Amino acid sequence: MNARELKKKYLDFFESKGHKIIESSSLIPENDPTVLFTTAGMHPLVPFLLGQKHPMGKRIANVQKCLRTDDIEEVGDAFHNTFFEMLGNWSFGDYFKKEAITMSYEFLVKHLKIDPERISVTVFAGDKDAPRDEESARAWINLGIPRQRIFFNPKKDNWWGPAGKTGPCGPDTEIFFDTKKKKCSKNCRPGCNCGKYFELWNLVFMEYNKTKDGKYEKLKQKNVDTGMGVERTVAILQGKDNIYETELFSPIIKKIRELSGKSNIKSERIVADHIRAAVFILGDQKRVVPSNVEHGYVLRRLIRRAIRYCRQLESKSGLLVELANLVIEMYKKDYPELSENRDFILSEIKKEEERFKKTLEKGLIHFNKIRPINKMIAGKDAFLLFQSYGFPIEMTKELARERGWEVDENGFKREYEKHRELSRKSMEGVFKSGLQDKSEMSIKYHTATHLLNQALREVLGNHVQQRGSNITPERLRFDFSHPRKMTKEEIKRVEELVNEKINEALPVKREEMSLEQAKKQGAIGLFDRKYGERVSVYTIGNFSKEICAGPHVANTKELGKFKIVKEQSVSAGVRRIKAVLE
Ligand code: SER
Repeated sequence: MNARELKKKYLDFFESKGHKIIESSSLIPENDPTVLFTTAGMHPLVPFLLGQKHPMGKRIANVQKCLRTDDIEEVGDAFHNTFFEMLGNWSFGDYFKKEAITMSYEFLVKHLKIDPERISVTVFAGDKDAPRDEESARAWINLGIPRQRIFFNPKKDNWWGPAGKTGPCGPDTEIFFDTKKKKCSKNCRPGCNCGKYFELWNLVFMEYNKTKDGKYEKLKQKNVDTGMGVERTVAILQGKDNIYETELFSPIIKKIRELSGKSNIKSERIVADHIRAAVFILGDQKRVVPSNVEHGYVLRRLIRRAIRYCRQLESKSGLLVELANLVIEMYKKDYPELSENRDFILSEIKKEEERFKKTLEKGLIHFNKIRPINKMIAGKDAFLLFQSYGFPIEMTKELARERGWEVDENGFKREYEKHRELSRKSMEGVFKSGLQDKSEMSIKYHTATHLLNQALREVLGNHVQQRGSNITPERLRFDFSHPRKMTKEEIKRVEELVNEKINEALPVKREEMSLEQAKKQGAIGLFDRKYGERVSVYTIGNFSKEICAGPHVANTKELGKFKIVKEQSVSAGVRRIKAVLE
C-alpha cells in the first residue's frame, strides 16, 4: 500500500464513521506565539478541545502537515524525520475510549490487514492525578488482545500533552506493531527503541486541562485526539525497515545519487529530509523566508545543513533546486500551494545557496587567520567556523590537512555540546511556554487584528491580504501583502479608523455557514479549503467580516485605544505591523 492509498483509506474509513474531513491547516500556527510550527494535528484544534463548538461538528478527521525540529540531529537514522504528515481523528465531547479503540482496531485489522497477533498496546498505569486506565484495557480485551500484550506504563510513557505548559492533555493508549525481530533483552517490550516494536498510532483521551499551577482539572468535555504518522506507517505496511525506501523518499534519494559523485546513506537521507521540509515551509502561504529568527531560522538551518551534506556527496551545484522541484511534483496534487508557490520556493533556495557560498568565503578568510598551536587547531576555533560560517567539522579537518595541521575534535565536541544545551534550553522556552494563550488580553488583540486587517484594506486597497498573525498578551503582530512602505499619513489613517470602530462600540457576531456562503457575503480569510465545508465567520458591525475560529470579544468597546508602534518590511511584498492596545 502506498501513502496516497493509506491516506484515502483512512479518511474514507472515518468518514464512514460519521467524521467530517477537514483540510490540513498551515504549518505555521496562527495567533499562537508559543509554537513555531504545527507539530501535531491537534494544535489547530485546541479551541475545540477546550469546548468551543466546531462548525463541522463533533467528529473530525484529517491529514495534517507537521514539522518537528527537536530532533534534527537524529535525522539520518531509520525513522526520524522533520516534515511528516499525520493522520488524525477527533471527538469533541462525542465518542470516548471504547469507540475510539474499537474504530482503530477495525481500521488496522480489516482495512490495513494487519495481523492482530502482531498488535500489542500500552495504557496508563494511573497515579495521583488520574486513575489507572482499566477502561481502555477492557476495551482492548473485548477486541481479543490478551492481557499479556497489554502493558501499563506511568505518565512519562502513557500521557500526552499538554503541548505547552498548560492546556488539554490526558492518558493515552499506544498501539504497537511487532516486527518479529528478536527481543533485545529480557525486558524488551512495546516502547523499547531497539526496533522490535514499532509505534503505529497514539490515541489520546483528552479529558484534563493542566493549569498554570500544575493541577489537572477535568475539561468540560471528554475528547479523543489520535495521531498516526504517514511515512512510518507506510514503511511498516511495505515491510521496509526505514522510511527512506518508501516512495515518499526513494525518488529523491535516486536523484541525489544520479547527481552526486559519492554515495553515503546518512548524507543522502539528511539532504532528502531537509529539502522536503524546506519546500513545505517555503510553500506555505505565509511566505517565510530564510532569516536568523524564528521560522526563518529553522528554514535557514535546514537549507544550509542540506547544502553542507550535498558538498559531502560532491554533488554538482544546483542539486537542491532540482530536488525541490521534484518534491513539488511529488506532492502538488495533495498540496496545490506547492505548485502555486513554485517560483518563490525555488528562488529562495537559490538565494540562500548564494548567501551561504558568500559566508563560506568569509569563513575561509577567517580560517586563514587561525594560528594553530603545535599544528593543532583549537576546538573553539573549529566551533566558531562551524557556528558563524557554517563550516562542517569535516571541511575544517580537510582544510587543516592540506596545511599539515590537525583539529582538536574533542575540544570541538565539547563546545558543540555546550552550545546544543544552550540552544535546546532556548528552544524549550519557545515550545514549553504554553500552547495557545487564551488570556483576556490575547482575545482583545485578536479582535483588534480583524479591525486592523479591514482598516488596511480600506486605506491601502483590497490587495492587502493577511500573511501571518502572531499575538501575545502584550501586543499584536500582523503581516500582510503590500508592495511599499506605508507613509506616515497611511499609518495614521489606519490607526484612526481602527479607533473609530472601537469607539462606535460595534457588536462582534459569530455565525456558521458554508464556505460558499461566506464567500458570497464577502468574508475575507482563507479560501483554500474544500467545497461544502462549514466555517465560522465573525462579523464586526458593518465593518469587517472574516472567516476565523475565534475567540473574540463581544463588543469593540472592550478594546481600549489602538496604537501602531512599528511598520516594517518582512520580505519582498510583505509588510509587518506591530500594535498595542492602551
Ligand atoms: N497529539 C498526539 C500526538 O502527537 C496524538 O495526535 O501523538
